[in-house]
Amino acid sequence: MRKIAINSKGMSRVRAGHPWVFRSDLLSGSVDDGEAVHVVDQSGKPAGTAFYSAGSQIALRFFDRRHVEASPDYFRAKFQKAVALRERLYPGAAAVRLCFGESDGIPALVVDRYGPVVVIQTLAPGPEMLKDDIVSWCMDLTDVGAVVERNDPKVRSLERLPLITGTLRGDVPPELAITEGGCRLGVDVLCGQKTGAFLDQRDNRDLAASRARGRVLDAFCYRGWFSLRAAVRAERVTAVDAADEAVAAVKEGALVLGLHNVDAVCANAFDYLRECDLRGERFDMTILDPPAFAKNKAALGAARRGYKEINLRAIRLAEPGGTVFTFSCSYHMSEDDFLETVASAASDAGRRVSVERRLSQSLDHPILLGFPESAYLKGLMLRVE
Ligand SMILES: C[S@@+](CC[C@H](N)C(=O)[O-])C[C@H]1O[C@@H](n2cnc3c(N)ncnc32)[C@H](O)[C@@H]1O
Repeated sequence: MRKIAINSKGMSRVRAGHPWVFRSDLLSGSVDDGEAVHVVDQSGKPAGTAFYSAGSQIALRFFDRRHVEASPDYFRAKFQKAVALRERLYPGAAAVRLCFGESDGIPALVVDRYGPVVVIQTLAPGPEMLKDDIVSWCMDLTDVGAVVERNDPKVRSLERLPLITGTLRGDVPPELAITEGGCRLGVDVLCGQKTGAFLDQRDNRDLAASRARGRVLDAFCYRGWFSLRAAVRAERVTAVDAADEAVAAVKEGALVLGLHNVDAVCANAFDYLRECDLRGERFDMTILDPPAFAKNKAALGAARRGYKEINLRAIRLAEPGGTVFTFSCSYHMSEDDFLETVASAASDAGRRVSVERRLSQSLDHPILLGFPESAYLKGLMLRVE
């Protein structure tokens, strides 16, 4: 395998456990886009093995701290280990993230399972070159019948990879659905958001479903997986999303489950929360799961204002003793920053609020120490007095 050298700044990142080295920290070496390379320090000492990206500022993505032979079999063993971990974490689960990139030692590879279908995302040239192998691993190591690629995230453009979506193997059943917490939930793997659903919220949906009662408001509901699961126990659930197709899916989902206590509303959640507040409505539980408001550091100020606004409303709308589940999936918004923003909202709302639990992403999205980018979802379960 060919070699590439990095400077001391790159070395200190690698030593701290971070799997990425930036282009500005490369010293020498001529390698191809997507190639697996042996990385050395200034004096030629081994630093590890990484994928090289020619187009991206993230020039190296490490997957081993030793110099290893990066054959397809090497990665197959890693994938097998990742699948086995999920089987231990969520035995028999229909919907689960089988591989979470760097956290599972296969950088930039996402593999999500939805019953008989797996969806893959190869988000850098390294895993892109392994795509045919990845499809075979999925077919050999799981009992799925179809493999879909959702290679439409914009980050692929930064890697000079095309944005594409399609079925790579088998056929996707027309009415694809999975069961989570006893509820049948529909998934659209070809056109839905992310790979079809938000698997990172699974554990939090379990928690919210177990606490649901009275009136529930699910703002930014997508296809209503929080709503539908909560509706099994709650009296009435209002699910709000700005996307027509998401709201249609909530209605369809409620129909299929025979739930007559779900109202699905297509609206801007900011407006909807404000209008509920003006009408003096009250909820026993509110869920706020917005998209990432801070896509980069520069957007943090506006993001804080957005998070504060929706949290202020949700806290004001809470019945005494009510619960608010509030989330941020913005990596750039730290956990402390989020807590402070929510605290400021509670203070403006004039309510006494305590944190019942700090929440995170589901266990099938492992957080890799030394790689803060892998810890992106933060949440709070609040009790409002
Ligand atoms: C993180 S997803 C919610 C996932 C959902 N909680 C789940 O568990 O499946 C965020 C959702 O917010 C919606 N959205 C974005 N901006 C919105 C807005 N201003 N008002 C209402 N919904 C919005 C998106 O359409 C998307 O469905």
